[in-house]
Amino acid sequence: MLLRVENLGKQYAISKSFFSNKETIVQALDNINFELREGTILGVLGETGSGKTTLAKLIVKLLEPNNGKIIYNFDNFPRNVQMVFQNPFSSLNPMMKIKDILKEPFLIHHLDNGTDTDSKLRILLEKVNLSYDCLKHHPDEFSGGQRQRIAIARAIAIEPKVLVCDEPTASLDLSVQAQILNLFIKLKEELGLSYIFISHNIEVISFIADEVLILYEGKPVERGLKNKVFNNPLHPYTKILLSSDIGELQKTSAQDNYSGCKFYTNCKFSSDICKQMTPEEIKTEEGHYVSCHILK
Ligand SMILES: Nc1ncnc2c1ncn2[C@@H]1O[C@H](COP(=O)(O)OP(=O)(O)OP(=O)(O)O)[C@@H](O)[C@H]1O
Ligand SMILES: [Mg+2]
Repeated sequence: MLLRVENLGKQYAISKSFFSNKETIVQALDNINFELREGTILGVLGETGSGKTTLAKLIVKLLEPNNGKIIYNFDNFPRNVQMVFQNPFSSLNPMMKIKDILKEPFLIHHLDNGTDTDSKLRILLEKVNLSYDCLKHHPDEFSGGQRQRIAIARAIAIEPKVLVCDEPTASLDLSVQAQILNLFIKLKEELGLSYIFISHNIEVISFIADEVLILYEGKPVERGLKNKVFNNPLHPYTKILLSSDIGELQKTSAQDNYSGCKFYTNCKFSSDICKQMTPEEIKTEEGHYVSCHILK
């Protein structure tokens, strides 16, 4: 086990208006539990606003949780957990040459020793299939796919254990997406990496993940080994997702702030208890967990 997330929760306070200091609380994530095992890819799947980026930021400690904790089963925190962002157009500094972008992690972590770093950059570029020549250029001279390769090279430069990838292919063309997904798989095998891989795209998660965590409005819906969850979905939301019959789901807004299941208003099977109580996560079989009252 590389890291374990226990009862993790995050709230944001938002000011109602510029003129008042009244705040509303958005529960962006609530009661999240999972483990990331060495050499595996955990796919986090959820629609927009389901809390995926919040989870990524908590894991790389860009945010502090309000509840629960993350246990890292390794030392050297910042070095061993690196992030790849969705948009390689904004995540690479346009003013810097690729050489300086790739050297930066070595400098930050005091691992730069001149010629040795240069040969490391050469190896790094080979790993992500870019030529050595690109070091002297700036990010705006590259395509989206090439920029994402540069961002990946930067993330793996100092040999982390875990990569947190927040929709890293969402801004790319379909054909390029497939190349980048294959690059992630190749690097995982070569470098013994583990990923928390976030996407709103079920096909991407289905292709890349070993285990999955499905979120709905900040709550865990269903999780476990991908084959168990995808071959035998148990939560009504997962069933809809996998049948591609997602249509127009009704959003629960802050006004209907009831304490029960977030999926209540959309669920064909809901009963009174679903409105009243948040379902607890239950283990239905080894490697398969579901949060739903109807399965009790
Ligand atoms: N800095 C913030 N302040 C207030 N609310 C926030 C903040 N960041 C996120 N939220 C809210 O928290 C919830 C979860 O947001 P988050 O960005 O984690 O979702 P997401 O699944 O990454 O969505 P997307 O697929 O659009 O990237 C949303 O309701 C969002 O509006
Ligand atoms: Mg996001």
